[in-house]
Amino acid sequence: MTVLQKSLDSELKEYEINIRGKGIEFIWFTGEQLYLAKQKVIELTNDKRAPGFIKLAEDKFNWTKMTVSRYIKAYKENNTDNRNIWGNNRLVTLTLPNKYFPYNIWNTHKGDDNEYYGHFPSLFMKNLLRSFTNENDMIYDPFAGSGVTVDVCQEMGRRSYCSDLIPQRDEINKWNIMDGIPDDLPCIDLVFLDPPYWKQAKNRYSDLPEDLSNMELDEFYEVLDNFINLLIGINRIVSVIAPTQLSFTNHKFEDHIFKFYEMLKDKYEIEMRFCIPYSTQQYNGAVVDVVRKEGLYLNLIRDMVIWKLRN
Ligand SMILES: C[S@@+](CC[C@H](N)C(=O)[O-])C[C@H]1O[C@@H](n2cnc3c(N)ncnc32)[C@H](O)[C@@H]1O
Repeated sequence: MTVLQKSLDSELKEYEINIRGKGIEFIWFTGEQLYLAKQKVIELTNDKRAPGFIKLAEDKFNWTKMTVSRYIKAYKENNTDNRNIWGNNRLVTLTLPNKYFPYNIWNTHKGDDNEYYGHFPSLFMKNLLRSFTNENDMIYDPFAGSGVTVDVCQEMGRRSYCSDLIPQRDEINKWNIMDGIPDDLPCIDLVFLDPPYWKQAKNRYSDLPEDLSNMELDEFYEVLDNFINLLIGINRIVSVIAPTQLSFTNHKFEDHIFKFYEMLKDKYEIEMRFCIPYSTQQYNGAVVDVVRKEGLYLNLIRDMVIWKLRN
């Protein structure tokens, strides 16, 4: 790493020792941006649940000047809550995604080393939070799965309340959305809905009848509709859903996004619709051959819609 080391300005100088005391080896400015870097990254993060963070961190850490000022303020006031926002074990917080998508079609070929079926790419989560939330906002994820929301919120200085029918980690509460909204749910700025895409993951998460992946279509919609009704009033709802096409031979195509529109259209307007297509790797060569011969089509469509509460 070639680093042009410069001394900090007088405002920060006083705290340089504290920052360095946290194990940061390089501190330098490029324009308005303050960079801090630490080479022994694995020691620093040592968190297998956030491998993307580790990969990025091997290169360098970015703290905006504002984040550093907040850190200093929290440090001065001995404000543990504020410092916890950035994580107890993490010394550094990323405030921006390493890649920003300027169009509303998002694509990433960079995997997350996350083996949880249907996990949401952390790069997409970073872009979402960057554009539609502020530092310290509270994000609710009732289908938290592997906990991408937990990790990215922590990295970006957002708070989160996460739950799932089958929690994978301690930070995720056990909660079935059929029981409504948890009693201890705090005031929410944005709710992120990444439910199973109906039966696409049948029996993958569980064989429980209350698992949305195992329901018949009418019940799937009814359960989602009841739950969404309880969320009305939250400023932003984000829905992620792909059509399901359970058998490529008879090509039955169920386009769930229009049901979401039905559920939300009276109270919410569409602020932005992002196309986050699957990669073509989704289907193996044999399936593609059959489809070619039969003149059918395979689904790669997936949408993420940002719904904004109407005034
Ligand atoms: C598409 S996955 C979410 C993946 C997650 N966003 C991630 O990045 O790992 C859908 C999740 O919904 C959960 N789920 C299914 N039925 C549920 C229910 N009735 N209540 C709460 N969670 C449920 C599953 O356990 C699964 O983890």
